[in-house]
Amino acid sequence: MSDSISIGTVDDIDEGEAKVIPAAQNGTEEDIAVFHAEDGNFYALNDNCTHETASLADGWIEGTKVECPVHSAKFCLKTGAALCMPATIAARTHRVEVHGGNVLLYPNVRGDA
Ligand code: FES
Repeated sequence: MSDSISIGTVDDIDEGEAKVIPAAQNGTEEDIAVFHAEDGNFYALNDNCTHETASLADGWIEGTKVECPVHSAKFCLKTGAALCMPATIAARTHRVEVHGGNVLLYPNVRGDA
């Protein structure tokens, strides 16, 4: 069974914003970005664009997509899928759940499973 990390309350991340959980804190080898999407839900992706090097948390959330701030590739927050060039590789997802107003991140548990 995988462990979750409490990363704060739903009010800690405004809709359309993201919070980075550093690798040292999340227990993986990658920083993880937790996004509060415009559908009101929370999603998590590795915080590195699969095209080159960029923080997706610094990008722009549109609905349930995030646009990379460097070359404008878009990723689906639900599945991690790369939706347009120049990215062709999906971003890794991680499960996020909300319980009693607390946001729980499950590092290394796929968010789109
Ligand atoms: S680094 Fe993200 S699209 Fe190039």
